[in-house]
Amino acid sequence: MTITGTTRTYAHIGYPIHHVRTPALYNRLLGERDIDVVVVPVEVAPEDLASMAPAFRAWRTLAGIGVTIPHKEAMVHLVDQLTPMAELCGATNVIRRDSDGTLVGGQFDGIGLVQSLLQANHRLKGAKVLMSGAGGTARAVAFALAQAGVGTLVITNRTRDKAAVIAAQVRQAFPACDAVLHGGEEEFDVVVNTTSLGMKPGDSLPVDPAVLRPGVVVADAVMAPPETALLKLAAERGCTPHPGLLMLQAQFESTLEFLGLVER
Ligand SMILES: NC(=O)c1ccc[n+]([C@@H]2O[C@H](COP(=O)([O-])OP(=O)(O)OC[C@H]3O[C@@H](n4cnc5c(N)ncnc54)[C@H](OP(=O)(O)O)[C@@H]3O)[C@@H](O)[C@H]2O)c1
Repeated sequence: MTITGTTRTYAHIGYPIHHVRTPALYNRLLGERDIDVVVVPVEVAPEDLASMAPAFRAWRTLAGIGVTIPHKEAMVHLVDQLTPMAELCGATNVIRRDSDGTLVGGQFDGIGLVQSLLQANHRLKGAKVLMSGAGGTARAVAFALAQAGVGTLVITNRTRDKAAVIAAQVRQAFPACDAVLHGGEEEFDVVVNTTSLGMKPGDSLPVDPAVLRPGVVVADAVMAPPETALLKLAAERGCTPHPGLLMLQAQFESTLEFLGLVER
């Protein structure tokens, strides 16, 4: 795309920022859609984050802000409003700047996974899902799965107490979803990895391989490498692998709508 005087900016903030994949993907997709917005990686150290908020409000051609590690939780306290999902998650990964400078924090990590699974025609309503992880992504994914009507959400995580907290919060917010800790059962419709396991060669698997039964949908939030050891084994065992890039691509559509760059 050509940057002109009318081009608006989407600032993608994090610390460090060199590893992010969003700018390359989003700039390509924005160009394909002829949307006059450019995504720019912006490195902001945690101690400088609060001083950036007034600048974001004053930046009239700012279309929005993408937020990545470690700022997703801290930005919740620096924006003016939150969507219900961002409020539930206590984290924001996309911020809209309204024309009066108001900053509105949204959270689309989990919604992206749900949208991508539905787009691939995988059933979520009433499904039994195993989720590995209890970090920031896990929280967003858990609430989004519960909102999508998952019947049972079984959570496993290295630090069990963190999984217990998420399970309790999901049950409170979505009483129809039976969110529990993993007790060793093996039969699930969908398995989701939200841990960072799989990013490095030699990482252990995020789930017990016994859950990888033929026909199970196996989604991985990890995007690099595109085919993690979990997805490779899942394919070998007759499961349906669902790579992390699909989750990011689906977030793009929700992000465009939230920022008002396309019609809802
Ligand atoms: N595809 C997408 O659109 C998308 C969007 C957002 C994030 N992601 C990806 O999601 C992954 C997680 O990100 P996050 O922000 O949620 O990270 P996070 O908050 O730091 O959480 C990390 C999770 O991984 C677990 N973990 C880390 N090292 C482990 C180990 N050696 N053994 C067992 N468990 C381990 C942690 O367990 P403990 O709780 O025990 O520490 C925790 O559950 C990253 O790969 C990120 O790139 C993808």
